[in-house]
Amino acid sequence: MKVLILYSSRDGQTKTIASYIAKELSVVATCEIQDLADVGQIDLSQYQQVMIGASVRYGHFNPSLTKFVNKHVEQLNQMPSAFFAVNLTARKPEKRSPQTNAYVRKFLLSTPWQPTLCTVFAGALRYPRYRWIDRVMIQLIMRMTGGETDTSKEVEYTDWQQVSGFAQDFSELSYKK
Ligand SMILES: Cc1cc2nc3c(=O)[nH]c(=O)nc-3n(C[C@H](O)[C@H](O)[C@H](O)COP(=O)(O)O)c2cc1C
Repeated sequence: MKVLILYSSRDGQTKTIASYIAKELSVVATCEIQDLADVGQIDLSQYQQVMIGASVRYGHFNPSLTKFVNKHVEQLNQMPSAFFAVNLTARKPEKRSPQTNAYVRKFLLSTPWQPTLCTVFAGALRYPRYRWIDRVMIQLIMRMTGGETDTSKEVEYTDWQQVSGFAQDFSELSYKK
């Protein structure tokens, strides 16, 4: 089985999650992993399954997500496909599902793509790596939402067991077709 994994990542966490999934899937599939920003012309018919992961920044996914999805929607809807979102709202377990995570709910309502599988992963908070204005903004949001406010800290909220479970579910899609 040949699988394509695309990611849109600003600070690296979505890329790390995509790589982790690729590694988990490598037992059962040949995985190609690419940055959504670098995907030029691509023939999806080369692949049996496609997964796309994207992080949220200031309320939005990178526009490259919608651009890619709109361009390939017919094919995406004809093959087993998966979408995962990464954000900090999802550090709260009750906001970690496509129905309860506002960014994902909104995306799914607005896109013609109907991914076979969809999930939300908590991302990472890495204050020391942010530029000053982002550090201040994220600290403000964390203060308002009861999160970590110590700007010397780096916290990874990603639940790797959840990521493994998603990779497993994705690997089983071909049998369900
Ligand atoms: C400048 C900035 C803005 C962010 N905006 C949001 C946001 O609006 N909502 C949210 O839940 N998380 C937000 N986050 C958290 C990111 O989604 C989280 O850090 C994620 O792990 C980033 O993934 P990436 O490293 O793949 O870009 C923001 C993070 C930064 C640095």
